[in-house]
Amino acid sequence: MLYYSYPKPENQHQRGNEMPIIYDEKKRVFKLDTPNTTYAFHVTNSNHLLHLYYGASIPETDITHMLRIPNDEPFVPSTHDGMGPHSFDCAAIEFPTSGVADFREPCMQLMDKYGMSACECYYDSYAIYKGKKKLEGLPATYANTDDEVTSLEVYCKDPHNGLEITLQYSVFEKLDVITRSVKVKNGGADPIELRRLLSACVELDSKDYDMITLYGTWARERHVQRNPLHFGKQLVDSCRGATSHAHNNFIAIVDHKATEDYGDCYGFALCYSGSFVAGCEVNQYEKTRVFSGINPYDFSWHLDLGEEFQAPEVIMVFSASGIGTMSRTFHDVMRNNLTRGKWKDIRRPILINNWEATYFNFDTDKLLDIARESAKAGIEMLVMDDGWFGHRNDDKSSLGDWFVNEDKIKGGLKHLVDEVNKLGLKFGIWFEPEMISPDSELYKAHPDWCIHIPGRPRTPCRSQLVIDFSRKDVRDYIYGQMYKILSSANIEYVKWDMNRQLCEVGNEVLPPERQREIWHRYVLGVYEIQERLLTDFPDLLLENCAGGGSRFDAGMLYYSPQIWCSDDTDPYERIYIQWGLSKFFPAKTMSSHVTNWNRNTSVKFRTDACSSCKLGFDIDLKSLSAEEYQFVKQAVSNYDLMKPVIFDGDLYRLVSPYEGNHCAINYVSKDHQRAVLFDLHPRYMEPLTTVRLQGLDPDRTYTVRETNLMPGKKSELTCDGKQYSGDYLMKVGLSVFTPRTGNSHVLILE
Ligand code: DGJ
Repeated sequence: MLYYSYPKPENQHQRGNEMPIIYDEKKRVFKLDTPNTTYAFHVTNSNHLLHLYYGASIPETDITHMLRIPNDEPFVPSTHDGMGPHSFDCAAIEFPTSGVADFREPCMQLMDKYGMSACECYYDSYAIYKGKKKLEGLPATYANTDDEVTSLEVYCKDPHNGLEITLQYSVFEKLDVITRSVKVKNGGADPIELRRLLSACVELDSKDYDMITLYGTWARERHVQRNPLHFGKQLVDSCRGATSHAHNNFIAIVDHKATEDYGDCYGFALCYSGSFVAGCEVNQYEKTRVFSGINPYDFSWHLDLGEEFQAPEVIMVFSASGIGTMSRTFHDVMRNNLTRGKWKDIRRPILINNWEATYFNFDTDKLLDIARESAKAGIEMLVMDDGWFGHRNDDKSSLGDWFVNEDKIKGGLKHLVDEVNKLGLKFGIWFEPEMISPDSELYKAHPDWCIHIPGRPRTPCRSQLVIDFSRKDVRDYIYGQMYKILSSANIEYVKWDMNRQLCEVGNEVLPPERQREIWHRYVLGVYEIQERLLTDFPDLLLENCAGGGSRFDAGMLYYSPQIWCSDDTDPYERIYIQWGLSKFFPAKTMSSHVTNWNRNTSVKFRTDACSSCKLGFDIDLKSLSAEEYQFVKQAVSNYDLMKPVIFDGDLYRLVSPYEGNHCAINYVSKDHQRAVLFDLHPRYMEPLTTVRLQGLDPDRTYTVRETNLMPGKKSELTCDGKQYSGDYLMKVGLSVFTPRTGNSHVLILE
């Protein structure tokens, strides 16, 4: 028996050998089942698709009594078709469209040749198949083997304009994950302007929920916001061309009383890295519509005859046992079915990046110095950050001039890489491919290659403009430059940075009716180049970064198995940022580096905070005292031992820093043999509380050992070296405070 993992089996409907997706022809019900959840919708006699249910598993398919088909509501337009009188404004609609008597947030809106915007989605036919198709040009979850996922495509039509709509669903058979997306095709006789195409909406039967979102700003990303739903629309979005520092494209809708281990929770993560919208509308009948997709703001897509548009995927998770279970399910699907390539599962190197240690002020000798010190500490890769190219000695020039500055990199790049390799370290490099500096050779030659509106001023940000990745010729040129650099030496890692948002969006290439496509074409261009990189350099470890965590999203994870969380590396601040990100991102994806941002904190505290994610360094190791250096060396090797549990185990958030000045989390290996507890309490003399662990095997005995101790120091914890049952550790817990002598503890239980 295990505590606090999935809900107890006896409370759950077990699906047995049933198919994960069925269509009950008699009841005209589609029913999608994961191990612990059910999602269902109904095809009406009038061929409308009405949502029935999403929540904990139910065995029945005879559930059409759940339909919300109110009779004629006063002062609400109502239809009289095969179902008798009903008002769409009150119904739970599977894929709502605009202009046809449902006044809530629609998923689809268009403009036809007559300037009309009404459209509808009538059921036509369906297909159920094993496996999962790729979404053309877009990141999405995938099936490792065909028997892991079953998919459903529901083919719909709007006979009035010839639009063909495919609603796409995939059900993960071992995880409580359902993905949704939609593709539309112009099968009519005239061009159509698609004005809005959200990926999914889910209708909930009540308004008694809270919405959790992750907001922030630069250096303060992914703080947790939780508010009760209110009547009307409430949403987060980005119209900046990137996911943004301000809001993440993940939302959760949870019971008012939901905690880490109690309550119904719905999580929605959009697999996309551009402008988005995600939110809810609570209507006058106290029902909630949740929606997520590309932001319709300034969006339009011209569909010529026969042309298609594919919307990005939404990953949906339902948990009946709290936010923790929801997070762990997201972690599993992101680790197993979203990240890809060589580095998905194998051991990843601990790297040191020179940025915080040198900023732009470095040369070959300085880098080799850093590499030498790092090698002695057991660090495995040196990453050369911004400033190695063109004449870039500050952030005012040279983006786009991707050729090595040999005044700094004396002897050339290959020489530097070879020397670093000789020291036993791998070598990585920084690029910001999506940007162009007005002070660059490239801009002089091609001033029209940035995103701009002819005749309007071009607003700079960090002295740079955005290069037009919606243009194939521009992408090909930039990729060619990157290819040359990457094939000139043994470069095993790329940090892909992106340090501004898009404005004055336009170019001189696309016709007027396609100008509003640039936002999305740009994102597709970024995906295309990252895909090319991984195809041409399959051994490359790619890390995405966007001025810190502005593009920490599920879309980017398809290309890079790790992402830079934030430029704020103050360990106090990081505790909050990492806590927020962990709501749906696994620790393995969260790059966290020890730096000198807050020298008032001990190197131990900084290292412990980073070790709870993907540990790295951004510091001049020479600035450390001999004792601190010894500590780092030992911590690097400790981390290597803990890494399998942190990377591939289950995360339990135990004590929230948002509720006090104390943060505790534990990871447990999938076989429950090992666990690691991180206890971080940034405030001096915090009141003493014990920490109850979770996810352990109650019948197993664990030996507790404190690790990451300063050299020569012994643990002051009374539990160090003692043995306890998992049952005791989860019911009683451990006293892990030594408030006068240390404010962080890392404990291994095995
Ligand atoms: C912003 C990133 O977040 C930093 O880590 C660093 O790479 C700088 N850009 C370099 O300009």
